[in-house]
Amino acid sequence: MITSLNSVTFIGINAVLVNVEIFIANGIPGIMIVGLPDVSTKEAKDRVKAAIKNSGFEYPVKKITINLAPADLRKEGPLFDLPFAIGILVSAGLLKCALNLGDYIIAGELSLDGAIKKVNGVIALGILAKKLNKKLIIPYENINSAKFLGVNFLAFSHLKDVCAFISGTQLTGIAGENSSVYIHDIKNVSSNAASFKMIISGINNINIVKDKENYPDFSDIKGQELAKRAILTAVSGHHNILMIGPPGSGKTMLAQSIAGIQPDLSLEESIETSNIYSFSNKKINDETRLIARRPFIPVHHTVSIAGLIGGGASNPLPGDISLAHNGVLFIDEFSELSKKTLDSLRQPMEDKTINLSRSKFSIVLPCNFMLVAAMNPCPCGYYGDIKHECKCSSAEIYKFYTKLSGPILDRFDIFIEVYSANLDELIVNEKAASSSEIKNSIEKTRQIQLKRFRDNGIRFNASIKSSEIEKYFAVSSSALELAQSAIKKLNISSRGYYRILRVSRTIADLGQKDEIDADSVLEALNYRNTKLLRV
Ligand SMILES: Nc1ncnc2c1ncn2[C@@H]1O[C@H](COP(=O)(O)OP(=O)(O)OP(=O)(O)O)[C@@H](O)[C@H]1O
Ligand SMILES: [Mg+2]
Ligand SMILES: [Zn+2]
Repeated sequence: MITSLNSVTFIGINAVLVNVEIFIANGIPGIMIVGLPDVSTKEAKDRVKAAIKNSGFEYPVKKITINLAPADLRKEGPLFDLPFAIGILVSAGLLKCALNLGDYIIAGELSLDGAIKKVNGVIALGILAKKLNKKLIIPYENINSAKFLGVNFLAFSHLKDVCAFISGTQLTGIAGENSSVYIHDIKNVSSNAASFKMIISGINNINIVKDKENYPDFSDIKGQELAKRAILTAVSGHHNILMIGPPGSGKTMLAQSIAGIQPDLSLEESIETSNIYSFSNKKINDETRLIARRPFIPVHHTVSIAGLIGGGASNPLPGDISLAHNGVLFIDEFSELSKKTLDSLRQPMEDKTINLSRSKFSIVLPCNFMLVAAMNPCPCGYYGDIKHECKCSSAEIYKFYTKLSGPILDRFDIFIEVYSANLDELIVNEKAASSSEIKNSIEKTRQIQLKRFRDNGIRFNASIKSSEIEKYFAVSSSALELAQSAIKKLNISSRGYYRILRVSRTIADLGQKDEIDADSVLEALNYRNTKLLRV
């Protein structure tokens, strides 16, 4: 008898359905797997055999053929253990099947004793199951990342329990003391979005990854009112920001404080970002939970291009720009990046996705990050500083700026020059606004933006396409006049013009203004008033 089941493999960060066919016949005993299995899939043979025996079944002494389709797709990982074991038992007539296996997608790694171990890619699996209207059979350890995906699933910790479920008998704890069974029926759980919100607001925060809160609080930063206002604006609308200033002026501190003021992730955003994390080889995610905080990914200026934009391996790994999806990519000492690395950022910053081509296929990964960059104004660090003399020649300064080619500078929305706070600012006793107060104002502008873009899925002002700006942004006539005369005078590109409008929209949102007014444009123009653009 041939048994057919559904499982998956992955292309990029997407799950693709794989049909597992199992055929048992008389012949020389053994398992043959055909259809491009990788090494870990081939190794399933021994695990499956031991797991079946240790779950109280007899192992069929027959010729077992397993076919994985589509044949041209490489099948990765040990997640096929569970579908193989079930398929073998059903095909051999050792397990009666009381349900339609075609309704389920099955994934799980088996231990030799029959225990089911967690697998990678459960979020992608859930997204696929939802699209195909199928249910999941997955490891018990993966339930916390599957719970919020809006799919029906069953989760088991032992092969014995899965078999009991399939044969229509008892459902709980048949495998003994350590066995767990979980049934997730979306009809019976309160809205997933609501329960996720509960989790991130801390009512039940055992299931989330909370990064160490080792960033400076906004109130620790003395003075720097202009820089703080620029940061508030940038984070509110997800605008790219470049901070330029002499050594010790507080750029790194200001940038790091952003980690504590980003707005909460929505469930949808968390699913997107957690899914990317689950394909990373960095141990940021342990596959058993969703992330609840917007990423803040610091990148060292010596980063490799593959590390930054993604690459390597047969199934490319996401780079830092994708790990920063829906959050911040922070590049300190920005001017130290190689020209090649700087150029590699241009396309993904424009498209908010990155295309990684491989010989057989090309994958697209999301990378809608906000770039926060910091640098000194010249090689010695003191160009334009009033307290120290700059020791660079004009040729050195020219070379320094031309490397940051026009097109990359054109992708920043906000430029600020940061100078060291002076003594009276540093000893001021008044407590400045805290990160949580700043975060509250940002959450308010975020709600305004979500409402504005509710019909097109955009989340922040920075993400709106130039062609759609007119539809979504109301601009007063004096503001329009000001913006248009400024671009002529300051020789701003059309890309720069739209960036000014986007930032103006965020500034108007912070002031709860329906229309972009001249004041908002003026402030946005100020954020482009930097010597960097004039060299
Ligand atoms: N406005 C400020 N309020 C409180 N502390 C400050 C402020 N500015 C600077 N500092 C202190 O000075 C230290 C140096 O600041 P930071 O490292 O952020 O400077 P930087 O501009 O990044 O310098 P570099 O160009 O050398 O990297 C910080 O660790 C912080 O303790
Ligand atoms: Mg620094
Ligand atoms: Zn200098």
